[in-house]
Amino acid sequence: MAQNDTAAPSTQTSYAPSTAFAEQANATAALYDEAEADRLAFWAEQANRLAWETPFTEVLDWSEAPVAKWFADGKLNVAYNCVDRHVEAGNGDRVAIHWVGEPVDHHRTITYAELKDEVSKAANALTDLGLVAGDRVAIYMPMVPEAIVAMLACARLGVLHSVVFAGFSASALKARIADAEAKLVITTDGQYRRGKAASLKDAVDEAVEGDGGQSIQHVLVVKRTGIDVGWTKGRDLWWHDVVDAASTEHTPKAFDAEHPLFLLYTSGTTGKPKGIMHTTGGYLTQSSYTHFNVFDVKPETDVYWCTADIGWVTGHTYIVYGPLSNGVTQVVYEGTPTSPTEHRHFEIIEKYGVTIYYTAPTLVRTFMKLGRQIAAEHDLSSLRLLGSVGEPINPEAWRWYRTVFGADQTPIVDTWWQTETGSIMISPLPGVTATKPGSAMTPLPGISAVIVDDDGNRLEPGTDHGEQVSGYLVLDKPWPSMLRGIWGDPERFKETYWSRFAEQGWYFAGDGARYGSDGEIWVLGRIDDVMNISGHRISTAEVESALVGHSGVAEAAVVGATDEQTGQAICAFVILKASAQGGAENMVEELRAEVAKEISPIAKPREIHVVPELPKTRSGKIMRRLLRDVAEGRELGDTSTLVDPSVFEAIRAGK
Ligand code: PRX
Repeated sequence: MAQNDTAAPSTQTSYAPSTAFAEQANATAALYDEAEADRLAFWAEQANRLAWETPFTEVLDWSEAPVAKWFADGKLNVAYNCVDRHVEAGNGDRVAIHWVGEPVDHHRTITYAELKDEVSKAANALTDLGLVAGDRVAIYMPMVPEAIVAMLACARLGVLHSVVFAGFSASALKARIADAEAKLVITTDGQYRRGKAASLKDAVDEAVEGDGGQSIQHVLVVKRTGIDVGWTKGRDLWWHDVVDAASTEHTPKAFDAEHPLFLLYTSGTTGKPKGIMHTTGGYLTQSSYTHFNVFDVKPETDVYWCTADIGWVTGHTYIVYGPLSNGVTQVVYEGTPTSPTEHRHFEIIEKYGVTIYYTAPTLVRTFMKLGRQIAAEHDLSSLRLLGSVGEPINPEAWRWYRTVFGADQTPIVDTWWQTETGSIMISPLPGVTATKPGSAMTPLPGISAVIVDDDGNRLEPGTDHGEQVSGYLVLDKPWPSMLRGIWGDPERFKETYWSRFAEQGWYFAGDGARYGSDGEIWVLGRIDDVMNISGHRISTAEVESALVGHSGVAEAAVVGATDEQTGQAICAFVILKASAQGGAENMVEELRAEVAKEISPIAKPREIHVVPELPKTRSGKIMRRLLRDVAEGRELGDTSTLVDPSVFEAIRAGK
């Protein structure tokens, strides 16, 4: 790290918004009072920021908890809300998307009127392919405008999209297609990876062939790179043949507020990813409301940029549905932050005059490591608000972000939420909250979250220093964009989220947290078997099952160990079968490759230790806590419940 970055710019503990920011902010403190006075009336008001074809009369029906119904007798069309209504309001010429391709000379500007035409054409094309409301479409694409068009076209038709991150492997895609029984995959021929075109279509071919791919009728392919692709006649279709030829006239049909909008697969505590299901009215209400108030967007003047990928929930809510429902202008970037140079993000901010920048702590730490001189070469004065998401942001990175990106002036919104919550739940309001670096602060107006102990008793506010008592972060009241279930598995939905505090009827988020001295929330990270690698959610069980899938592995245990750069890093401990013992050295590389192939390169373990035994309790449970101690080089915690405490000598010897 550069010398000047090691000295923290300040040890200030709380940062209040400037008067100038507060005076122009969309959200004032009155929002908390309004929500407090009448929560359901408050949500009705937020829902009415949208255009409803049939107004709702009931706000919330919680009688079938934990499956909520919000605004159930209302009808609306999500794509109409995100596109058409802005054109009808006279804003068709406003830029919706400044698309910046990975190769530096690729870019495109798309206005709301153009977006409406593109979405209408795609909706007509999907209809011609036989898709009807309720069907599922897998979208496996890099960050190209057609990916957003495809999502909106599905939404327009009431077809559920299941976006699969283009960094996932063929086998991960296959499992998701099979679980959702998708009829169509939309993909590209290839994608740019640090200047080189790499195939994507090959992975789709592999995923849809054979068992599990039977539901697929067509593969719709956007030509992005021009590289050669295999082609199955009748099944495979070019986007430019099918979509470009379709009519720009398409009348959207309104759907019930509880009609499903999309599935998004995320890692749980077992090896099988869960298809998180979101529905129409509540999801769009909260996405739009949070985007407007947390990011303080002024559609006429702001240039907003969320650096996430549409393959994750942040891309769904804060690239597609939130910003577009609010009619803002945004930057969408196809590539990685360091390609072709580390200046890329700063150049984009400068060129497009980005005013609001929303990214992940891991990227802030990457920039920090590169040193502030890179940022200093660019004019970042257009920035007026910064956001963070995906993992706790360490105070040092928070302060660096504010100083270097934000000229020590811009508010930072540290936003806590999950795939399951659909949109932001805990976050500062930028014109109201005096923020503490590292804390997501308090639940947004209309949202309720509490930290409780094992028995469900609410913890007391803590102190900023000294012993901290931590507990479980729970959401004790339903919220509009909450998940409505796990695709095809209602039991798992109840078991996963609603069983820990079943008596109280609370949702357990899987995170540990503590209160600070002002009652603000400090999220400490997952306390289940879910790891957070650079903000990507990966389960220990998924990686373990990829490892034991290899013929040379007898047993595997995986833990997330603290990593300065990526938040957590994957550490695996494996016992090899006798037949594979000879080649332990080669096996490690082979196993890392196996995990990349089975899941994704992002799930490759940082370390794999070949060990003779794993630490187990008498009931046969692997003690991950102790493995984490080993991986992080700490003194071992309590080993009294182990069958054989001496196992650690052997593990350490192998490390
Ligand atoms: O552990 C929390 C962490 O990310 C988890 C949710 O992951 P995912 O569903 O992939 O969604 C990520 C983007 C919303 C949470 O359970 N997390 C997310 N944001 C924060 C966070 N932890 C601390 N602070 C945050 N701001």
